[in-house]
Amino acid sequence: MSEQQAMPRLDGPTGGPYLRNTWYAAGWADDLTDQPQARVFLEEPVALYRDADGKAHAIGGRCPHRFAPLGAGCVIDGHLACPYHGLRFDHTGACVHNPHQGEAPPKVAVPSYPLVERYRILWIWMGDAAKADPALIPDFGWLDDPAWVAVRGMTIAEGHYELYSDNILDLSHANFVHPALVANAFTIGERKFWQDGERVFVRYTHQDDYLAEALAAMMGVAGRKQDFIGEVTWNAPATLYFDYRAGDPGTPAEGMTVLKSIHAFTPETGGTTHYLWATARSNALDDAELSAVMQGALEHAFEHEDAPIIRDAHRLMAGRDFWDMKPLILSGDGGGVRARRMLRRLIAAEQGTPSEFEDDTTN
Ligand code: FES
Ligand SMILES: [Fe+2]
Repeated sequence: MSEQQAMPRLDGPTGGPYLRNTWYAAGWADDLTDQPQARVFLEEPVALYRDADGKAHAIGGRCPHRFAPLGAGCVIDGHLACPYHGLRFDHTGACVHNPHQGEAPPKVAVPSYPLVERYRILWIWMGDAAKADPALIPDFGWLDDPAWVAVRGMTIAEGHYELYSDNILDLSHANFVHPALVANAFTIGERKFWQDGERVFVRYTHQDDYLAEALAAMMGVAGRKQDFIGEVTWNAPATLYFDYRAGDPGTPAEGMTVLKSIHAFTPETGGTTHYLWATARSNALDDAELSAVMQGALEHAFEHEDAPIIRDAHRLMAGRDFWDMKPLILSGDGGGVRARRMLRRLIAAEQGTPSEFEDDTTN
């Protein structure tokens, strides 16, 4: 057996309490092959695997015998076998096989979690299974729509997951962090922030200006001034959709060229985040070279420009609470602040405790 990747340490400060009755992105579906995966979500060890029919399952990832990571095991007869002494577990989490000296399987079970494969993503529910309604998964139908071609990534990034949501909700950072990718339009353009139900929206608009070179190339409008609209939708707890569209000045929104993106953040520990992202275009579908350029530029932006600055900000917060640190609020923070307050309210409601944040009445 090849050497396993080390599990993250689970003895650091907690990043919770977490929202539990919600769908979290657990990874790209086709990254889960015959080889199970050992993961940690919301500070809980989880094993992801496919049974004999290829159906994906999520069960508790810590073996009850000597606590080995079940996700580092293998699948035998459709059951997940512990890599340490070979106990096997079914998709309900029950121990169903004991390889030792004819002993019966011990009457033990690890937890099991609802897992749905949709839009090429595995979605996991870490709360009350009776409430796990797949209709609650936000619509990312474009990810498996042949009219769109996507580049994508998945990484574990250091930093609390809400710092990662903040980053997408405040694109005024782009001017400073991604100078090659984004011109100053997110800083000087018009911004609007609002919420609708439990979702938070941010919209950027700017007219008659050049896009940054790399972005213009992705959209096939190099050297042409454009109007653009960028709209971010935040779904609790940290699954964001970004619709970015541009067109020759005067083009109505429906007639513009569109890039669609998902940024889904799932807490691993209090200080690390699973970062799943994809960006899709509907222009130049067969252009493999353009896809390679997009893959390189966006992976660099998200994983090597955003992530390090968020990592260092997280370290400088030294485990302290965001609001306790009395952060300065700038005009670009209208989305991030609404999302943070909404998430606190949802978590408080789930836990039956009073929230420190009243419902926002102003938009
Ligand atoms: S630790 Fe899993 S069988 Fe021993
Ligand atoms: Fe960024």
